[in-house]
Amino acid sequence: MAKQLFYLPWWFARARFFGSRRPLQTVLFISDKCNLTCKHCNVYNLANPNIKTTEQIIEELKYSYAQGSRFVDFEGGEPMLWRDGEHNINHLIHIAKEIGFFSTTVTTNAQMPFADCEADSIWVSLDGIGEFHEYIRGEGTFARLEKNVAECGHPDVSFNMVINAKNYTNVRDTIEYAKNNPAIRAISLNFHTPYEGTEYLFLEWDKRIKVIDEIIEMKRAGYPIINSISGLKLMKHNKFSKQCWVSNFIMADGTRLPECPGSIAGVCDQCGFGMAGEMHSVFTLRPDTIMAGMKLRM
Ligand SMILES: C[S@@+](CC[C@H](N)C(=O)[O-])C[C@H]1O[C@@H](n2cnc3c(N)ncnc32)[C@H](O)[C@@H]1O
Ligand code: SF4
Repeated sequence: MAKQLFYLPWWFARARFFGSRRPLQTVLFISDKCNLTCKHCNVYNLANPNIKTTEQIIEELKYSYAQGSRFVDFEGGEPMLWRDGEHNINHLIHIAKEIGFFSTTVTTNAQMPFADCEADSIWVSLDGIGEFHEYIRGEGTFARLEKNVAECGHPDVSFNMVINAKNYTNVRDTIEYAKNNPAIRAISLNFHTPYEGTEYLFLEWDKRIKVIDEIIEMKRAGYPIINSISGLKLMKHNKFSKQCWVSNFIMADGTRLPECPGSIAGVCDQCGFGMAGEMHSVFTLRPDTIMAGMKLRM
């Protein structure tokens, strides 16, 4: 904690006032093998999945740490599927901590039990209640998610929802469900980013604005919504300078990118990742966003 208290203001001051462009967080894809084929996703690779070795991941963690990163999110594909001999995701989490990362997170579809996952925080992807979730993720996925969440026993589990043209009417119920679920700390809200082949799920701007107003209203009423109000307001139009270099990305094929791959795909104008607005609000010193970030990270 003491290290974080020193490092975060130092990192911020260098970035904000001296133009430093060093990442603070790493999104590390450890494989693109998955047990689902979600309609909105352009990551999974059924035919010929890349599955990294422990050595490759250690090298990527050390590289990211040397770049300045101190938070790592293990991503996939499905990270809970990852194995290298006797090693599973916990081995990678321990190594990241030994290298010096302040915290580790894992994003999972919760189709497998994750009670033994030792990440500091866990994101469970939930795209609506029941049929809304299953439209995107397939039959049986909601019941498995509910069971594995209820049995996980982890103290820091939050939902990550991606709002799209099919599930936007279910946002209120999903936030309500997160609030009433004793295993869940909070919910993060994002919008579908229209990577090639998934454009039909993009939510039109007028509907997006209405959904954001509804989310802001629920946040003000005390619902456990991670996004800050400043960050949410920016997502209404997406017309702000992006600070996507705050996260470096290491893709499943080993490609190292200094920022979100959305810029290469040309989807930044339609980006739905809540983090984009949050980072801009931090950079423009919005107090509510800084508080939300501190709460999430510390
Ligand atoms: C690629 S998945 C990998 C982790 C894990 N398999 C899962 O589904 O949670 C990471 C997150 O990206 C989200 N995602 C996938 N495609 C997206 C898109 N086109 N726009 C926004 N988020 C997307 C997923 O819903 C999930 O929350
Ligand atoms: S579970 Fe995650 S990685 Fe797999 S297809 Fe769905 S969103 Fe993509």
